[in-house]
Formats: sequence, C-alpha cells, structure tokens
Amino acid sequence: MDKNQELIDRRKASMLGGGEERIKRQHDQGKLTARERVTLLLDEGSFNEIGQFVEHRATSFGLEKNKIPGDGVVTGFGSIHGRLIYVFSQDFTVLGGSLSETHAAKICNVMDLAMKNGAPLIGLNDSGGARIQEGVVSLAGYADIFYRNTRASGVIPQISVIMGPCAGGAVYSPALTDFVMMVEDTSYMFVTGPNVVKTVTHEEVTSEDLGGAKAHAEKSGVNHFTASNDVEALKKVRDLITYMPQNANELPPRPTKFDFTETKLATIGQILPENSTLPYDIRKVVDCVIDDNSFREVHEDFAKNIVIGFARIEGKTIGVVANQPAAMAGVLDIDSSRKGARFVRFCDAFNIPLLVFEDVPGFLPGTDQEWRGIISHGAKLLYAFSEATVPRITVITRKAYGGAFDVMNSKSIGADLNYAWPTAEIAVMGAKGAAEIIFKREISEAADSEAKWLEKEAEYAEMFANPYRAAERGIVDDVILPEETRAKVIAGFKMLENKAEVLPKKKHGNIPL
Ligand code: HXC
Repeated sequence: MDKNQELIDRRKASMLGGGEERIKRQHDQGKLTARERVTLLLDEGSFNEIGQFVEHRATSFGLEKNKIPGDGVVTGFGSIHGRLIYVFSQDFTVLGGSLSETHAAKICNVMDLAMKNGAPLIGLNDSGGARIQEGVVSLAGYADIFYRNTRASGVIPQISVIMGPCAGGAVYSPALTDFVMMVEDTSYMFVTGPNVVKTVTHEEVTSEDLGGAKAHAEKSGVNHFTASNDVEALKKVRDLITYMPQNANELPPRPTKFDFTETKLATIGQILPENSTLPYDIRKVVDCVIDDNSFREVHEDFAKNIVIGFARIEGKTIGVVANQPAAMAGVLDIDSSRKGARFVRFCDAFNIPLLVFEDVPGFLPGTDQEWRGIISHGAKLLYAFSEATVPRITVITRKAYGGAFDVMNSKSIGADLNYAWPTAEIAVMGAKGAAEIIFKREISEAADSEAKWLEKEAEYAEMFANPYRAAERGIVDDVILPEETRAKVIAGFKMLENKAEVLPKKKHGNIPL
C-alpha cells in the first residue's frame, strides 16, 4: 500500500474515535465530539495534534482487542486570538472518555509543554473517570495529572470546562485549576454519584441535583461559569482567556481599542439611595467606572454578597472585588470571603491589578458562621489581600465598618490608594449599635431612653458617618466625587504601573485554608 495513503487512512480512522454510532449518541445528547470542541475553541486551522496514534497497553478484560488510536483524548496546541494555547479534549465515544495510563500520559505531555513554554492550558473534560479495566495504573495516571495541575498553579492559567460526566477522583483536576466552567444539563461533577450517596446516606438525589452546573454554581461554588451548551462554553473560554496573561511573568494583552460612554459619569452619583440603609446594585457603580461592556463576572450565582470579576480600564485588565449591598446588605460571610480570596490570589499571581469597591456593614454574626469557621475563612480574604503585590486601589462608596473595613483592601494591609466618596461611613460599627454600647448607662437612666438613644446615635453618626475622620488620619487618601472615580482610578493605576514589591523570602506562606 502507498505509504502516504496508509497515513491518510490511519488519520481517518483516528478521527472517528469510537465510531459513527457513538458520535451520533453524543450529538443526540446535545454534546459535540472532542474534535468538534477543539475546532471551535481554537483559531481556525491552528490546531496541531500530538499523540494521535497513541494506544493503550492494557491486556485484560478484552481491552487488548479494543484499541482506538488516540485512546480517548485529543491533545495538542493551537491558538486563541493568535496566542499559544495547549489543550486536551476527552473523547466520550472511546470507552466513555475513561482515563487509561496512556490517556493520562498524553495529558501530562501537553501540561509539561505548557509549563516549559509558558502558555495557558485548557482541559475539556468528558469522561467516565478512571478506566476501570486498567486498575491502579489509571489511578496513578490521575495522580500524575493532579501533581502537574498543582505545580502549574500560579505559573500558567489553567481552565477546566466540564462537558460531560466528571466523577470520582476526576473532579480533582478541575478543582486544582483556576476556573471551572460547566455546561448546563449535560455535565456534572461529584466525588461519589447518586448510587453511592443512596447507599451511604440514604439520600435520594439525581445527578443533576447532586452535581449539575446549577448546584455547583449556587451551592458549592465549584463552578465559576455556566454555559447553556457546548458552543457557548467554548465561546466564553475564548473571551475569558483575553483577560489573562500567558503566564505569571507576563502582563495580560491590552486591546488597542476600548470604549467608554462618558455620559455614564453623570449617572454614577445617583446610584446610591438617599437612605444609607437601603440596598443598591454595586455592579451599576462598577459599570460606570470600567470600559463599556468589559465586565466578566466570576461566580455570578455563588455568595452574591460579594461581586468579583475581570474588567478593563482603558483596555487594561483589572480584577474587581466589590461588596454587594443588594445581597445580604453586602455583609462578609464564609462563602463570600472564600470567593473573594481565591480571586484575589489569581489576580495577584497573574499580574492583574485589583480595584475594590467597598460597602460592607461587617462580618455576618451567628452560631452557624462561627461554628463553621468564619474566623478562619474570613482570614483567607485578609491574607489574600495582605499578600498581594499587584497595584491595589479601594473606593469606599458607603459603609466601611469594623474588621471588614480592615479586610477590604485597606491601606494598612498594603493597598496603594484608598479613596472614599462623600457618602462613606468609616467606623468601628454602625451608629445605632455603637450608641447602645458606649452610652448604655446614659440611655438606661434617661427619662425617655428611646429619645436618648436616638440623640446618642446621631452624635456618633455625626462623628463617624462620614469619610473625614479617616481622611484626617490619612487612612483614606482622598475624598472624591463619584463622577471623579474613573479618572482617579485611571491615574492611580498609571502611577502604579511600575510597582515592584517583593515579599519576604520564604518557601511559601501558610494561608488559613
Ligand atoms: C471504562 C467506561 C468507563 C470507565 C464508561 N465506560 N465509564 N469504560 N472505564 N470508567 C464505557 C462504558 O462501558 C460504555 O462502553 C461507554 O463508556 C459509555 O458508557 P455508558 O455507561 O453507556 O454511558 P452513559 O449511560 O452515558 O453513562 C456514563 C457514565 C457511566 C455515567 C459515566 O458510564 C458510568 O457511571 N461510568 C463509570 C463511572 C465511574 O464509576 N468511574 C470510576 C470512578 S473512580 P460501550 O463500549 O458500551 O460504549 C475514579 C477514580 C479516580 O475515577 C481516582 C483518582 C484519584
């Protein structure tokens, strides 16, 4: 046979994965094949495959007669918007995308290349987990991947897209990466599936309720982004990656063009309600400060009392962390602290400056929070900000109370600039509670204690429900009008462009995990 023809035929066979029938089943479920996904993810014609002819080496349970070139995972490199990307895409049509020794080795190979060449790794996961017929070698294969995920953390961005089942130990590779995106209705993640759950805890739960995109977006926080189908997921990843640098030694790309609607500045001052106890959506404030349509919210449905996401200011990527008065008054609790902390650490690892909007009444009180460890979890956010060396600016829009004031990127924990709006209230606690504590005796002894309490509350508010005590002490750097915010933030980040701060030499810190 013509040798070139042999290659063409072998390639053709490999392209078919598990065969037409299984491809049809994949399509009928609303899923694309591994190769179709890679094609949509990468720039047209940019994919270079590695390991197309790799086969497994198993010899038991009939597997020796069931070899498919590529062994259930498509791996290689290509580009997104012209930038180098490494990718693996599991092929469910081949033994359910299960992970064999050689399947794992192929993934490890692209991970090693991504590390050596400093480019992001994107994993498209669709797998029944460890290849059961192979036993321990497939478990070791997973461990090889976990090890590399961990070593690559903070060196190159790693994104996991869950596009099918992801069960057992398989969930830990995505969990070790920076961002997880799940496809609605066709993907799920759990350590043990509904059957095991039923046996052990007697709970009856569907795969979707246990570990679907919604469950992980709202309840566990494992899922950062939800997409309604494969095509949307891949589009979202192509967009998301434009906010990130190739690796920790580079800056994110800076598009030459950006838009900003100047008229937004006229409306920013009207977002806060007159009454400082009423809620408002902090995302409206964010929108008035950043480039038009540049906000990419992360963890939109989890711990809504804090808003995090990527944005751009004059084309430059920033990370936004903002208390959300529209959800639980913007209070800090366990979930919002964890959510904020992990994002701050991603931004710091990848040279993304941080812009913080602060309107926080404090930490959430209660036995539930205390017993579940708000002390340690709240400390994560404190630690993450304190450790961050990227340019950091805070804008206090309204409340900055108690320990939460310290935590939310205060100057004392290393923020470079703190601005406050005239509506800012910077105090140990709200005036009502403060008056009750420090004027307890006067209030109880007064003929009209209610009136006394109101009088003392007003006195305390007069003293602290403004930004000027903090400004007098230099605890905030300036009091600014809301409409000046964008200009101040632009000037601030420009001033900080060459910031170089080095942490004390150490092996690594010990963040309160
Ligand atoms: C080998 C597997 C497989 C696996 C699926 N297949 N999972 N082969 N090892 N882990 C094969 C099936 O035999 C089938 O082959 C094909 O893939 C499609 O599977 P179906 O069951 O027909 O598909 P579906 O009904 O869609 O169900 C998908 C599924 C189910 C929910 C993922 O296959 C399943 O429960 N698989 C087992 C999941 C699991 O327990 N994995 C091990 C987890 S433990 P044919 O030839 O019929 O097409 C683990 C440990 C890792 O991963 C630890 C690391 C630390």
